[in-house]
Amino acid sequence: MTYPHDPIPDLSADRAELFAAAAAEYDRYRPGVPPEAAELLAETLRDLPDPTLLDLGTSTGQVPKALLKALPSLDYIEGVDLSQQMLDQARAALTPVLGGCTLSLVQTSAELYKPLAPLPEEEWWTPDLITCCRAYHWMSGPDVLARTHRIAAPQASLAIMGDGSLWMHEADWTRALRDLVQQFLGAGRRAGALGDCPKPVRPFQEELADSAWSDVAEHRFPVTRSWSPESVLGYLRTTSFAGADLFAERHAAFEEEARALLDNLADGGPLLEETAFTVLLARRRAGAR
Ligand SMILES: C[S@@+](CC[C@H](N)C(=O)[O-])C[C@H]1O[C@@H](n2cnc3c(N)ncnc32)[C@H](O)[C@@H]1O
Repeated sequence: MTYPHDPIPDLSADRAELFAAAAAEYDRYRPGVPPEAAELLAETLRDLPDPTLLDLGTSTGQVPKALLKALPSLDYIEGVDLSQQMLDQARAALTPVLGGCTLSLVQTSAELYKPLAPLPEEEWWTPDLITCCRAYHWMSGPDVLARTHRIAAPQASLAIMGDGSLWMHEADWTRALRDLVQQFLGAGRRAGALGDCPKPVRPFQEELADSAWSDVAEHRFPVTRSWSPESVLGYLRTTSFAGADLFAERHAAFEEEARALLDNLADGGPLLEETAFTVLLARRRAGAR
C-alpha cells in the first residue's frame, strides 16, 4: 500500500532519485541490524498483545526484517520511505518472512508522515515502537521528533540507531579506499547529486533531550564485519559517497583500481571492519509535551 496518491508536496525529487538508484543492490550489500540490537528493540514490545512498528527511512526493510526474527509475534509494520523503488525492494524482502504480521509501505517523507486513515469501525493505529536506522541524519530531526510524539502509543519507545559508514571507518584498507575515492571525486565527502553530505547540526542526543523523547538510554553493540573486495565494491555502489553516478564514465576505471587495491590489501583474507552499532532508545517522561 502506498500513499498519498497525489504528489507529495515537499518530496525532493533529487533526494528520492539518489536513494532509488541504489535500491536493487542495497538489500544484497548493506549490513543488516545486529541481532543483539534487534533483541533490545523486541524487549520493549515483549509484553504487548499485538505489538506494532513504525520504521522511518525503512529503505529495503532491514529493521523490520531483524525485528520479525527477534519477535515473531509482531502484529503490524508500517514502513516509510521517500523512495518507491526502496519500498518495492522492502516488500519483496519482507513478504516471505511476515508470517501473521501485516505490512503497509508508505511513500512519503518522515517529516510529513501521518498514520494511514482507519477504515470505518476501526481506530487510528498508534505505533508501539518507532525506529529510524541510518536515516535520521537525512531528516529534519526536530520535526520528526515532534510528529512521532503526536502519533505514538502512550507507552511507546523511539529508537534512533546506526553505525558509521566505511567512509568514516579508520583502518588501513578504508583509508586507502577513501584516498582513491577522493582522487576520483575530490576531497569532500560527496552525497550523490546533493553535493556534500548533510552534517548533523547538533548531536542526536541533544535533539532528543530538547524533545518530548527526553528519557534516553544509549546502547552500543560492538560489531566485527568481514568484507571481501567484491562485497566492498557492491556496498560502495549503494552509497551516496561512491555510487556509480558520481563517477559517470569513469566508474569502470574506479572499480578496476579499487578492486586491485583491495585485492592487494586483503591478500587472500578478509577485510575487517571493527565498529559499533549504537541505539539511542528514548521514551517520554510523564506529562511530556
Ligand atoms: C541509508 S538508508 C537506511 C535504510 C535502513 N533504515 C537501514 O538501516 O539500512 C536511508 C533511507 O532513508 C530514506 N530517507 C531519506 N530521507 C528521508 C525522509 N526525509 N523521509 C523518509 N525517508 C527518507 C532514503 O530514501 C533511504 O532509503
